[in-house]
Amino acid sequence: MWKGRFQQPTSNLVQRYGESVSFDWRLYAHDIRGSIAHAKGLEKMGILTQVERETIEHGLMTIKAEIDAGQFVWNQELEDVHMNIESTLTKRIGAAGAKLHTARSRNDQVATDIRLYCRDAVDTMLGLISAMQRSLIECAARGENAVMPGYTHLQRGQPVFFAHHLLAYIEMFARDADRLKDARQRLNVMPLGSGALAGSTLIIDREFVAQELGFDSVSQNSMDAVSDRDFVAELLFDIALIGVHLSRLSEDVILWASAEFGFITLSDAHTTGSSLMPQKKNPDVAELTRGKTGRLIGNLMTLLTILKGLPMTYNRDLQEDKEPLFDSIDTINLALEVFTEMVSGMDVNRDRTAVAASDPMLLATDLADYLVNHAVPFRQAHEVIGKLVAHCLATGKSFPELSLADYQSFSPAFDETVFAVLQMDAAMAARKGIGAPSPKNVAARLEHWRKILSTP
Ligand code: ARG
Repeated sequence: MWKGRFQQPTSNLVQRYGESVSFDWRLYAHDIRGSIAHAKGLEKMGILTQVERETIEHGLMTIKAEIDAGQFVWNQELEDVHMNIESTLTKRIGAAGAKLHTARSRNDQVATDIRLYCRDAVDTMLGLISAMQRSLIECAARGENAVMPGYTHLQRGQPVFFAHHLLAYIEMFARDADRLKDARQRLNVMPLGSGALAGSTLIIDREFVAQELGFDSVSQNSMDAVSDRDFVAELLFDIALIGVHLSRLSEDVILWASAEFGFITLSDAHTTGSSLMPQKKNPDVAELTRGKTGRLIGNLMTLLTILKGLPMTYNRDLQEDKEPLFDSIDTINLALEVFTEMVSGMDVNRDRTAVAASDPMLLATDLADYLVNHAVPFRQAHEVIGKLVAHCLATGKSFPELSLADYQSFSPAFDETVFAVLQMDAAMAARKGIGAPSPKNVAARLEHWRKILSTP
């Protein structure tokens, strides 16, 4: 492609070192789409005749069909996906093909391809996130009124519904989806027409080409457009955060599936056995997801590190943006798919959550609130209940086993209504503030998400 200026061929080692076609071939559909739109732009400015443009378009579509079918032969000597496609086209159709790269550089070409690729990837991910959320909703609904302890510091805190716990993740994934939509808006800007770095003296109708490619707008600074990869960094962050959320859910699933918790059962299809210990049923899907999240975070760090020292404008370092991007997209898509499936086979063990939730200590805060309702300042109420807890621990008794006289020996504010506070149903119904897990609130939230997620 640059033989005019060089007297020596590129060394084999340099070729091997610099080739990107072994991974950037994945951009072919977007590269071809971009080239077809560019050819239309060239036709509009009179560089290509209609016949030439049609010949190019036909040639590119034939190449695409061959790549789709796995019949296209990639050549490492041609470095990347762009030169492979262009040189094959020119070999086949001759002069018209040789005009395609007019007013274009691989720098604005690759930036355009990646943006198109990311846009499609976001749309796919959004679908997978919705599916994941639907799976979580159904799992939550199957265990709707199973009460379990909610934890802080992994110590039993207050009672919640299993469904409320899963609904927390629905909220996280909804924010993840919003972030992707937001990133999509910023990345849907067309760099094509920026040339190598300073545009071209051959003036193309960029707005027209952008429309052909479904871009919302065109970039306004050619130097920025060819060298910017913030949209990739943003996407990698968004993906890493989805991974972090999946990883937290994984940790919950792993704990819950242990004999110590026993809160859930996973289906055989989504667990593995041990080659040595016959009794084992391991939550590998969750463990792998927790582990793979490391890669997602790593990919973000890789890209940020590539970008941090780059002078303007395009530098070959930028070729290193693709492998972390592809890896993160592949990893998160598969993680979302497999998690969706695993959650659909996940069921709460009500007997086990009920036993754990029957720990009367979970209602210690409720007792403090009771005293507040009987005109005791909260700090004082907290201390009274603290002493009551210490008394229970010392005597081996639980709250319901204490007599009214016992209660009154700690505070005269107690009366016979205190025992009603210790009823779990009442305790849950009392948590009716916005966002708290009363049965009514949880049912409403399940309904809310069901409605949102049923409309595509
Ligand atoms: N394969 C290159 C990349 O991914 C395409 C752009 C090459 N541009 C150049 N000036 N060498 O970055």
